[in-house]
Amino acid sequence: MQINVLLSKNIKNHLIFVSLQPVFYNYLSITMESTNKHFKRYTVTTALPYANGPVHIGHLAGVYIPADTYVRYLRMRGEDVLFVGGSDEHGVPITIKAEKEGCTPQDIVDRYHAIIKKSFEELGISYDIYSRTSSKMHRATAQEFFKKLYDEGKFIEKETEQYFDPERQKFLSDRYIVGTCPKCGAEGAYGDQCEKCGSSLSPDELINPHSQLSGAALVKKPTKHWYLPLDQYEPWLREWILEGHKEWKSNVYGQVKSWLDGGLQPRAVTRDLDWGVPVPLENADGKVLYVWFDAPIGYISNTKEICEQRGDDWEKWWKDPETKLVHFIGKDNIVFHCIIFPCMMKAYGDYIMPDNVPANEFLNLENDKISTSRNWAVWLHEYLEEFPGKQDVLRYVLTANAPETKDNNFTWKDYQDRNNNELLAIFGNFVNRTLVLTHKYYEGAVPVLGGLNDTDKAVIEEMNAYPSKIGHLLDTYKFREALSELMNLARLGNKYLTDNEPWKQIKTDPERVKTVMAVSLQIVAHLAILSEPFLPFSAKKLQQMIGLTVKGWNDACETVLLPEGHVIGQPELLFEKVEDRVVAAQLQKLEDTKKANQLNAWKPAEVKQNVSFDDFMKVDIRVGTILECQKVPKADKLLQFLIDDGMNKRTIVSGIAKYYTEPEKLVGKQVCFIANFEPRKLKGVVSEGMILSAEDKDGRLVLLTPSDLVAPGCSVG
Ligand code: MF3
Ligand code: ZN
Repeated sequence: MQINVLLSKNIKNHLIFVSLQPVFYNYLSITMESTNKHFKRYTVTTALPYANGPVHIGHLAGVYIPADTYVRYLRMRGEDVLFVGGSDEHGVPITIKAEKEGCTPQDIVDRYHAIIKKSFEELGISYDIYSRTSSKMHRATAQEFFKKLYDEGKFIEKETEQYFDPERQKFLSDRYIVGTCPKCGAEGAYGDQCEKCGSSLSPDELINPHSQLSGAALVKKPTKHWYLPLDQYEPWLREWILEGHKEWKSNVYGQVKSWLDGGLQPRAVTRDLDWGVPVPLENADGKVLYVWFDAPIGYISNTKEICEQRGDDWEKWWKDPETKLVHFIGKDNIVFHCIIFPCMMKAYGDYIMPDNVPANEFLNLENDKISTSRNWAVWLHEYLEEFPGKQDVLRYVLTANAPETKDNNFTWKDYQDRNNNELLAIFGNFVNRTLVLTHKYYEGAVPVLGGLNDTDKAVIEEMNAYPSKIGHLLDTYKFREALSELMNLARLGNKYLTDNEPWKQIKTDPERVKTVMAVSLQIVAHLAILSEPFLPFSAKKLQQMIGLTVKGWNDACETVLLPEGHVIGQPELLFEKVEDRVVAAQLQKLEDTKKANQLNAWKPAEVKQNVSFDDFMKVDIRVGTILECQKVPKADKLLQFLIDDGMNKRTIVSGIAKYYTEPEKLVGKQVCFIANFEPRKLKGVVSEGMILSAEDKDGRLVLLTPSDLVAPGCSVG
């Protein structure tokens, strides 16, 4: 096989681009054309996270990391992309949180919007804009959207009877209605769900419904709302999705099909609520747009906002058929992005439809469902603080483990293994060995790529197939597989280096080592380009280290990226080992969360049957002073006390050793004890009474001590 010098590109850096065979180059462009209709530009959106809590790894693996990987890849390919994100700042959970914390909903969303925005930036989620639905632009855009549909008669107006809190003088949304669960009898079930048995409910099913706000019994009152008649769009949806988009992921396609097969109903797009975008009509006081009506319009508002700043035309991103619209979401959002929002846009007219909605399933954490309310999560802002500089490790693990086709599980052990055995042992190790040897043998100057044997040629050929292989997988939203192909390229390099043992051959065949190092260096350079969508921080670092200027994805279609004589910089480590203690600390943190949850779920015991005064007076409780205290030998639970009871010294044994590990420090303290408790023998010691202690909610025993010194022997009652 001959190496052909194709063209010399970056003259300044003296980079000469060489291709083994022009056919590889063509192969790349052919695959890209054949899988995709060519679009002029891309609008890529990510579900707007609710600003009622920070973002966790489930969000990242499901939505934000795949979207960012996709966008970075498109940009490298030279595509015109707009990457839109933002916070979803309306909805009932936000008002409930505000109520609980005694602040306004705006306070809540201000707090979390700032946290979320900052943490996305630090993780390298490369938005063109990350804005929010409480913005003026959004309010105006959402209202205009509603008004146009209203004016054109696209809604159905309906009056229904809804629960009303007579004390607060307002209609209550389902979450604010509590009562007895009709399924399991639990008190405090919500109007939409019983948290005890997990049943979904409607407020009408609740027994004895009352207001969570005021406790008042509820009355029913008529109220008017506007409905989008989804049923009318059914034939169009079937045609567009079920016929036209059979290539959508099966989890998405399947969910859409089952919604459509079940028959669509008109959906209310307004609510009686005082937090949200006000309904822009006369006589609609106290009514706002339903959060799922306004939130997706947020994608459009945020597009307008950034285009206004850039002096760009926003409409081309949403209305030009040559724009490819892609929504990245989690599976709980499928109906909204594949049915409701498309119907809204269809009703409005002019809008393009999403070309794909690559929704992911859910990620679990240590085999348990991620839950904001139970604090069972790895929070992004905490990760960034606890693992500075390790953004790419999280991106790597969450992509390798992404719940693309089924729910998946994140464990800290897996995080450690993937870092140590993959990123570090394969990618990092190969890069580092290659760069170190280049410095050792050639003072950092790249040797000529010549004298190739058949193995070398096969390796180069394999290397040259990766840009299109990985690109094709990214084009079709197969991020896990794409990443695993990237790692295969690193494996290829690692094996090539190990097989050729340049550290041995340098003595016997230095000419051969030049070839081996030249090939390895080209693989390193290819990794530096192809890893960028997945590991943007490490890729940039590596590019700088080897002095590679990357213009785009297609650079990797050339064989020689580092020409003869090009001097690479000093090698630095790309990844470092994750130690056992780091994993242990994270697991401990989760353990603590579990414990805290158990404590929060704790309730005092039921009160026992009444006793008479006379019965109570039979128990002789007194105060005594501790004279001595030590552990009972061979009994890990027991402490032996010697008590001054005012008349004598008495021995009492008590099962509290676990909670008082330095018993000698108790000497001098006063305790309450039952003086007429029948003597009992415990582990060979006769106990003459019982010392009183409180049992805390975690089972911990705490001695009862008078709040002031009193005479030993005085009675308690
Ligand atoms: N806030 C929603 C959620 O977290 C997602 C809203 S996506 C949007 O489930 F399209 F409505 F913006
Ligand atoms: Zn129940």
